[in-house]
Amino acid sequence: MSNPNDMQLVDITRRQALQAGTIVTVSGLLPVAAQAQASSSQLAPENGVTVQVRFQINGQPSVLEIDARASLLDMLRERLGLVGAKKGCDHGQCGACTVHVGGRRVASCLTLAAKIDGRDVTTIEGIGSADALHPMQQAFIDHDALQCGYCTPGQIMAAIACVKEGHASTQEEIREYMSGNICRCGAYVGIVAAIEQAAPQIERG
Ligand code: FES
Ligand code: FES
Repeated sequence: MSNPNDMQLVDITRRQALQAGTIVTVSGLLPVAAQAQASSSQLAPENGVTVQVRFQINGQPSVLEIDARASLLDMLRERLGLVGAKKGCDHGQCGACTVHVGGRRVASCLTLAAKIDGRDVTTIEGIGSADALHPMQQAFIDHDALQCGYCTPGQIMAAIACVKEGHASTQEEIREYMSGNICRCGAYVGIVAAIEQAAPQIERG
């Protein structure tokens, strides 16, 4: 008998995945709400010292009481339901969790959530919409710069930062400054081409 979750997977288009970063992994077979419920106990305030953080998330003000040990990645995924940023290695080695803090790219798995107090955080969910994709999202589609899509939200956030940093002048430079983002599917040729296409449309910071 087919699993209803498998049917759900079939309905997810590549565009939707790029826009919302919702390519499903084994753990992602659970609905977002269920994932949050299943894992939120690890970040529940009663389990440790808590801190209150006030921040902007994708332009919206937010206040959370969090475990002082929580990573930004866990806070995004488990407390805010923003599952675009992926947990690949959880050790700062793959780039799948890349988001922007104060306009700069960070590995959210290595960033303490407590450190974002007073900061602006932008995730893949905050850069475009289904009707108006960010130029980098569109370029990834145009160049077929993904296969499974697991690394893609992190690649796109890193790529936008790479351009804004002024590190997208040549293919060699793009490869160098995107080297912290690993793609196990080997979509690197398309990723570099996508960044070259989108770069002129993105203002350097
Ligand atoms: S999950 Fe953060 S770098 Fe791999
Ligand atoms: S598209 Fe599969 S890991 Fe990059």
